[in-house]
Amino acid sequence: MPEINLPNESVSQQTTETLLLKTDTGHNEEWVEGFRQAIPDLEIRIWPDVGMGSEIKYALLWNPPEELYHELSEVEVIFSMGAGIDNLLHSPKFVQDRVVVRMIEPNLTSGMVEYVLYHVLRVHRQMDVYRLQAERQEWASLPQTAACNYCIGVMGLGILGSAVAKTLSYLGYRVRGWSRSNRLIEGVTSYSGVGELHKFAEAIDVLVVLLPLNRTTHSIINAELFSQLAEGVYIINVGRGSLIVESDLLDAVRTGRISGAALDVFDIEPLPKTHPFWSESRITITPHIASLTNPASASAAVASNIRRYRAGHPMIGVADMTDYFAAKED
Ligand code: OXD
Repeated sequence: MPEINLPNESVSQQTTETLLLKTDTGHNEEWVEGFRQAIPDLEIRIWPDVGMGSEIKYALLWNPPEELYHELSEVEVIFSMGAGIDNLLHSPKFVQDRVVVRMIEPNLTSGMVEYVLYHVLRVHRQMDVYRLQAERQEWASLPQTAACNYCIGVMGLGILGSAVAKTLSYLGYRVRGWSRSNRLIEGVTSYSGVGELHKFAEAIDVLVVLLPLNRTTHSIINAELFSQLAEGVYIINVGRGSLIVESDLLDAVRTGRISGAALDVFDIEPLPKTHPFWSESRITITPHIASLTNPASASAAVASNIRRYRAGHPMIGVADMTDYFAAKED
């Protein structure tokens, strides 16, 4: 949706509006400074100093404790600090009655593109093999596959998935995309719905998982899907841990059906120290850092949405809650 110019001023009769901020990184000063610059008339409160909860109109949250919602009786818009909104759903009834907005900001998108690109290039160009060879002082070249003969499948073609798919296509890779409904992206062959998952999965070399987690996507990457992929496919999961059946992935890696995986997200985070992924050398683990929300650009994005909301314009990134609540009520 294009950015529209809206007055920086709030509506004339308005009293000060308040936003509650709850991060899990502790970089509160950067957020406060970002908001001070982007929307100076907004009062910012920092959790746990909520003050009078009924004065809070907007909340920008990551992993809020369920009790917090009991205090926010008048909150109208809940902004997620991340691209996903599942971190907000501890209290479905409360959230269902509010407008929930996912984070869309340019640095979050470019961070994700960088992370996926890094792993695609590492795997495609066999850098792990060369590193092992170098450790043995071995000078040997391996057969090289041209990007145009190397196929990347991207599951999830939202803002992040589309940016990843477009970039890979621009670099010359063969790119397939899979999403709930058909998406037209230049250079990307698009598949949609469960019925086309099998066709999408054939002939992929690397599978990038960037789906949101909801009722239809929970455990969608499982032994059955692995059996439809060509032998030796590499998995990059930057969506959510519970999109993948972790035990199926481990089995598939151990048998060589899947050649390895780069995982940034897990069923349980932080990944428990006893989890078998830690000791599997073909699995690369990062601590949910594929793309970190940038306080300066993210506060500008939230400020822009608040101005839209005040002016009665649609906000960017409003989540469709139907997928999520169907899951909770079943
Ligand atoms: C997320 C994020 O939603 O990191 O996971 O943005």
